[in-house]
Amino acid sequence: MPLVTSKEMLLTALENHFAVGAFNANNMEQVQAIVEAAEEERAPVILQASQGAIRYGGLELVAAMVKTVANLATVPVVLHLDHGPDFEQNVKCLRVGFTSLMFDGSKLPYEQNVAITKKVVEIAHMVGIPVEAELGRVAQSSEKLTEEQVRALMTDPKQARQFVEETGIDSLAIACGSVHAMRVAEAELDIPRIKAIHEQVPHIPLVLHGSSGVLADSMIAGIEAGLCKINVATYLNQAFVRGIKEGLAKYPDEVDPRKSLSIGREYVKEAVREKIRLFRSAGTIDSSGGFRSPARQFRSTELGAVE
Ligand code: G3H
Ligand code: ZN
Repeated sequence: MPLVTSKEMLLTALENHFAVGAFNANNMEQVQAIVEAAEEERAPVILQASQGAIRYGGLELVAAMVKTVANLATVPVVLHLDHGPDFEQNVKCLRVGFTSLMFDGSKLPYEQNVAITKKVVEIAHMVGIPVEAELGRVAQSSEKLTEEQVRALMTDPKQARQFVEETGIDSLAIACGSVHAMRVAEAELDIPRIKAIHEQVPHIPLVLHGSSGVLADSMIAGIEAGLCKINVATYLNQAFVRGIKEGLAKYPDEVDPRKSLSIGREYVKEAVREKIRLFRSAGTIDSSGGFRSPARQFRSTELGAVE
């Protein structure tokens, strides 16, 4: 089916206490793996273009790949801009058909973050495209921050409310204990903080960045507390590289790169499947591509359970 926007998808997740997996894709194999896993799990899915992926493949090619694969799928697929650095790139993404945007002004002073986010929202909403923005800052693991420093960057719940009111955004990326690009899952989220932010902005889906470094139980608690979109990148890249290495070791004389790349693709698919099940979005899409009606409600006793 044609690409859909993230608006209804994330509001449905918010109402029904699951999170939509937002997976970063850098190449054709990863795009295919992500959508195949979503299709098999009957889950809505968001494909994101990171700044690295845009540098690597170019906006047009990324958009064309995701549109083509989405058109062949029977589950809803969103094409989302991840960490858009400025107004200009967001406009370019609108032009090439992205169905969800992000402006990341988390390194800017609050007033500047508000001003640019507002501009992006204004133009995106004119054509029905939702916008995510970030308040607080999710650091990079390469910054090697102490726990205290990570804590100091976390989102302030009251300021979150002000930010949402001033900008008119559709979803909010929050800093709540995760750090981008961790290679091992060992971080715990600040669940009381997620709850407090959710209480301040109950109608706004909250977004977790840097999920590869977060413990599974903590993510489940985060979903219970209000997380509706969970971004995954490093974990998929690790799976892809593992598969390629395995292929190269298994077939040392092979000259066809597809032999190794296809193992990488399978590993990414299984990694996506695992996350979709963890995020409880599996089985939420019916055979016609819409949300099951009524969408599934989860009780807290079902933590982590997937039908
Ligand atoms: O925006 C992308 C995500 O926040 C990915 O973070 O590489 O730690 O999974 P990750
Ligand atoms: Zn991120």
